[in-house]
Amino acid sequence: MVEEWIKICKENDSGGNCMAVGEDTIWERFLSPVVRLLIDEEGLRRYAESVDWEKESDRFRRGDVVIPTYYISQNFHGIKDGYLNSGAAVTYDPITQYVLPPNETLVRQAIVAAIKVQPRRILDLGCGTGSTTLMLKQAFPQAEVIGLDLSPYMLVRAEHKAQSAGLDINWRHGNAEQTGFPDTSFDLVTTSLLFHETPPTVSQAIVRESFRLLVAGGQVLVLDGNQNTLRQLEWLNDIFQEPYIREYAAGSVDAWMGAAGFGAVQTQDVWWINQVTSGIKPILATVRHYTPAPIDSTIEDDVQGFPSPAFDTMP
Ligand SMILES: C[S@@+](CC[C@H](N)C(=O)[O-])C[C@H]1O[C@@H](n2cnc3c(N)ncnc32)[C@H](O)[C@@H]1O
Repeated sequence: MVEEWIKICKENDSGGNCMAVGEDTIWERFLSPVVRLLIDEEGLRRYAESVDWEKESDRFRRGDVVIPTYYISQNFHGIKDGYLNSGAAVTYDPITQYVLPPNETLVRQAIVAAIKVQPRRILDLGCGTGSTTLMLKQAFPQAEVIGLDLSPYMLVRAEHKAQSAGLDINWRHGNAEQTGFPDTSFDLVTTSLLFHETPPTVSQAIVRESFRLLVAGGQVLVLDGNQNTLRQLEWLNDIFQEPYIREYAAGSVDAWMGAAGFGAVQTQDVWWINQVTSGIKPILATVRHYTPAPIDSTIEDDVQGFPSPAFDTMP
């Protein structure tokens, strides 16, 4: 059935980019047969066929976004052509719900539970189909929430989900390494399940970009595979055919945040397989550029609260 669906998907995919699954991976041989039994393939097929993917993805596609080589030179999860096709956008959620033990919602909830700020502007980097982004908007309905991703197809799926849930979220095509947003535009920057799919140099660039984007006192949160567990259980790295997962496991999100200038960095286990790492942009990071206010006004209030970001200048 999945093969048949992929065939139909390919026939409907004018770009010829539809998902193709590797045939000799652990995923393909052992796990996908189980997942296939659980997936509503007929529902997926109907959804896939109901969308004009090229037209809808064109609404998001931005000419100035440069697609990095690491992103198109590898297969993710044994999936050829990575995320730049409608097949990836359609199949991502049905598969992901079975690969985040003990339960996808519980794992994603960990990032929401770790939020220490009262965010007015939230940026979710590498948002994919928006599962975490939607939860962030539900947790902070008054906040302006933006989900950014390199794949316009994933953004199409994310927008459909937000519309179904009645949530007002902005979706933006972009590279998390260099988002184009002005400095200090956000109170909270998140990423979920992104860093195990990016080379560590890219992850570190994304952490530095998060630092630039945050106001003083703002928080960065990274939810991803547990680096300690992945180091101990080498076989886990083979399961999902992730090209950069070993390099990710060998690294330290804590250290990356510290090197970028974040303070109060701490990592918590999330059901042993995952982790959430939090960092706060120190108040002092901007006090250096701060123009002192008159003696009777409260500088402390200014720097502890969230200065109004220059969001209107967003390109
Ligand atoms: C494993 S998915 C995670 C999606 C989502 N955050 C989640 O929790 O389900 C990784 C996503 O990151 C995106 N991505 C990878 N590198 C990126 C980059 N440099 N900038 C923006 N998005 C990126 C991919 O297109 C994909 O949608």
